Amino acid sequence: MLKRTRSQRRADSAKHSKVENSVHTFELGTGATESPFRLPLREKKNRSGCLHCVESTCCCRWFDAALTKCYASLPIQRKVESGSRRELCAKSILPEFVSRLVRITGMDANVPFFDFGCGNGSVLFQVAFMTGAPCVGIEIHPRNAQVAREAWDALRPALERQGGRKLHVEIICGDFCQLLQEEPFLRSFLSRPSVVWAANLLLPRPTNHFLSERFRSVPQGTKILCFEDLYPHARSLARIRDPDAFEKFEMSDFVWQPDSVEWSRDEGKFYMYSRK
Ligand SMILES: C[S@@+](CC[C@H](N)C(=O)[O-])C[C@H]1O[C@@H](n2cnc3c(N)ncnc32)[C@H](O)[C@@H]1O
Ligand SMILES: [Zn+2]
Repeated sequence: MLKRTRSQRRADSAKHSKVENSVHTFELGTGATESPFRLPLREKKNRSGCLHCVESTCCCRWFDAALTKCYASLPIQRKVESGSRRELCAKSILPEFVSRLVRITGMDANVPFFDFGCGNGSVLFQVAFMTGAPCVGIEIHPRNAQVAREAWDALRPALERQGGRKLHVEIICGDFCQLLQEEPFLRSFLSRPSVVWAANLLLPRPTNHFLSERFRSVPQGTKILCFEDLYPHARSLARIRDPDAFEKFEMSDFVWQPDSVEWSRDEGKFYMYSRK
């Protein structure tokens, strides 16, 4: 076996600790369109029974069971589909996906989290529990906003007990396009850097366009994550078409893991835009 010199070992160790400190620890790829960040499933489940997380323990399976039990116990149930209005489809990303969002954004208690289109609130609850961040969800469907509120009332005591801290979740029933034009909401949304999640897969094109324009004014350090590319950047022409987006945002491409969204067992793409 080859013996490693002391300087080789020191270089390896420095390299290792650098990787350990990186936001994308364990993610493969560069985040460029042709090499999106990808997190392969583990070969064996971790100690908490999760195949998706890199940590040896995590809250995904426990959280999933707590959510299932909570929603089943409510007197009101989520409406998943609303006729032909695809944008009102209220299916969720799964706890394994939320854990990854927390990991890649480095969210903590000091950075507010916004879920634009929060459905039954599951993402908010897990982010609040894992990070202690103040979480705000906006949901246009009154029934689903009500489900989210009731679920939070039911879950909150157990989550606060388990985490040993007070948690803050607010659910606003309304249209986020409308809110993004109202002074009081904008004042708080734009007052400091935040993390924004928008599961914008089924939104009408004008809505995504509106979001992409509004999000240009978020404070430096804000991270926006979504499914539908808000600032198309795959082709070389994109930089010429929309130079402002490239000046304002660091753009990273990701692949979501299999079995991490409610509507598909497959992988798919999502994006993170970090305001420079
Ligand atoms: C696919 S669900 C996502 C739920 C959750 N955020 C998640 O990622 O698991 C999208 C939600 O956005 C809501 N929605 C769609 N357009 C909206 C709008 N203009 N304002 C607020 N909510 C909206 C829908 O009613 C639906 O509940
Ligand atoms: Zn996990």
